Amino acid sequence: MVIDGKRIESLLKESPSPSRKEVLSILRKAEYLRGLSIEDTALLLKVEDPDLISLIHSTAGRVKERVFGRRIVLFVPLYLSNYCTNGCVYCGFRAGNMDIGRKALSVDEIVEEARVLERRGFRRVLLVCGEDNRWGVDYIVDAVRAIYRHTDIRIVHVNAPPMDVEDLRRLKSSGVGVYQVFQETYHIPTYRKMHLSGRKRDYTYRLEVMDRAIEAGFQDVGIGALLGLYDYRYDCLATVAHSIHLYERFGTHAHTISIPRLRPAKGALLREVPHPVTDVDIKKIVSIYRLSVPSAGVVVSTREPSLLRDELIRTGATQLSAGSSTTPGGYAHREDSIEQFSINDGRSLEEVMVSIARAGFLPSLCTSCYRSGRVGSHFTETTMEGGIKRFCQANAVLTLKEYIEDHARNGCTDVLKRAVTTGIRDIEDPSLREKVAQRLNEIEEGRRDIYF
Ligand code: 5AD
Repeated sequence: MVIDGKRIESLLKESPSPSRKEVLSILRKAEYLRGLSIEDTALLLKVEDPDLISLIHSTAGRVKERVFGRRIVLFVPLYLSNYCTNGCVYCGFRAGNMDIGRKALSVDEIVEEARVLERRGFRRVLLVCGEDNRWGVDYIVDAVRAIYRHTDIRIVHVNAPPMDVEDLRRLKSSGVGVYQVFQETYHIPTYRKMHLSGRKRDYTYRLEVMDRAIEAGFQDVGIGALLGLYDYRYDCLATVAHSIHLYERFGTHAHTISIPRLRPAKGALLREVPHPVTDVDIKKIVSIYRLSVPSAGVVVSTREPSLLRDELIRTGATQLSAGSSTTPGGYAHREDSIEQFSINDGRSLEEVMVSIARAGFLPSLCTSCYRSGRVGSHFTETTMEGGIKRFCQANAVLTLKEYIEDHARNGCTDVLKRAVTTGIRDIEDPSLREKVAQRLNEIEEGRRDIYF
């Protein structure tokens, strides 16, 4: 079994919240960048003392910087279809919701969406679709291929329903980077209450999808719990346990851990959040993921408000989406009535990049690891040894420079240019620094897509 629910429960129940001494000792372990055990993670999840929590945040911020440098990667979701045969009580796409229109984009419309995103400066998209056999794996494969063929999007990740190994193999062969599926909740009784009908009712089929995906050749997989369905301590601990399971079995931790928090959705059956998760909780969760699975990208979507997102990049988050729409076709044509849930941060890519830069971080549009074979167990190990940061820093500077040349509007270029300057300065290896400086000249002369 991938997750032992009884063990998760007893770890959270058994011990009282840890003493200051215990917390300090766990944080010292986390500084080795090898991650934390389930037992230590459970203890951190119990911390409530604000002083200790702020120590957790600052350690997570430091660990983040040692692992990935100051860069924050940006991406955008692209919704393909909102047809769905599942009855998830919280989701606007649920079968039986008559309050929204249904749409499955054609391949041409998908390319049109991707072109709009490419013109805005995005290079990394996450395809998302509901579960319906009429728009199954072949549909997604066609979408991925068309986007690579017809646009300048450099990596396509996918959040799609669990599949069997054969379909996952086909999906992988289309060139997908990360395959992402959220378990929603790892707590079986709650899972059954939240997923009333459709194939998604099968908890185990969903839970085991990452094992199948890795067997099918996916090197990078993304996991997460939908926060608000059940006690976040349980679901966060189970998420870390899931990642540790993948590491023990395949040598690769979850490539990303997302922190989706419940949002209002038109036509959802759920009227209230069953287990509200506060902003304070979200900050703690992000930091604990960072410390427990230091190699994972911690992904924060536009479900979260802008001010909180600005804070989370200091306490362990590494990836932000920006300028998002959760409506199929929502980029080329505005249509609000068919979205999955309502977003909370409506800032454009440029606005988010500027605020990242103003906070002293480095906005990055990098896609290099997936395209250079730094994936799977190789990525996990290199990252935990502190060896990925140099690539992150260099590629962030290069992609930011490209963005400035091709997309930034006048008002914003100065702050982004300053971020390039500090970004180069922060590259520790002098010979790499020198090379990056040369490449910047090449970008000014018109070369594109240079990466280390
Ligand atoms: N609020 C926030 N996230 C949601 N999702 C579905 N409905 C909502 C909602 N109302 C999440 C689920 C799903 C992912 C694509 O979106 O976690 O797996």
